Amino acid sequence: LFMVGLNEMQEKERLLASKLAITKAIVVKGDSDQERQVLSSFGQVVSECLQLALPDQDNVIAVMGGTTMAAVAENMTALDDYHHHLTFVPARGGIGESVEIQANSVSAKMAMKTNGDFRPLYVPERVSHETYQSLLQEPFVQTVLNLIGESTCVIHSIGRALHMAVRRGMDEEELVMLKNNKAVSESFGYFFDDEGNIVYKIPRIGLQLKELEKVPVILAVAGGKSKAKAIQAYMKHAPHHTWLITDEGAANEILKGD
Ligand code: G3H
Repeated sequence: LFMVGLNEMQEKERLLASKLAITKAIVVKGDSDQERQVLSSFGQVVSECLQLALPDQDNVIAVMGGTTMAAVAENMTALDDYHHHLTFVPARGGIGESVEIQANSVSAKMAMKTNGDFRPLYVPERVSHETYQSLLQEPFVQTVLNLIGESTCVIHSIGRALHMAVRRGMDEEELVMLKNNKAVSESFGYFFDDEGNIVYKIPRIGLQLKELEKVPVILAVAGGKSKAKAIQAYMKHAPHHTWLITDEGAANEILKGD
């Protein structure tokens, strides 16, 4: 019986990866919309994926924020020694959301759980053009940006566009613009329509989407039936070599009707 269950899940993972046109999908049991502990189970899966996929060298891992990423961090475990040293950096400035879900906190927690290091990036999530240009000149910002540029792995989540826009405190005008442009998905501070086109980008410091393609290991972690459309939309834009870590809630919804 156990084997039947396992094979069914593997088949689901294969179908999902194929439908989303990505290298790999990993589906955990449950629906994180219903049970928060499903989010916690992503932590162990992320650790296993790092173990499998990271090159055998010192690795810099750029991470995003959010509730999913915070739950992942909380439940990560140390890797075997041969991956040498892990340094976690926030993939972007993220002061603006509550402290425990900021990318800085997520990278600090991941470093703690895996016996690695981290470098914080203390810049606000949203900055004006002038501030952006002057912050870029700061040596402490440049050091972290250089590390982000050297990263061998990016770990990020995917959110629903309007939900994220409200959480990030975007104003009424921006919300109307996102609705008019039919934004359904958000990741890395970029908003996407259901065809995966970028319809808006929050100006911020850190990893830019065009740099993502050259990062060897990309783990996207997002679950829950409510995120199915957001996941599908983002995956139309995502680098093909992205691995998706999700749950049955999202997977079943994406595969519905196939
Ligand atoms: O960009 C995507 C969001 O960070 C996802 O946030 O994990 O809190 O849903 P969440």
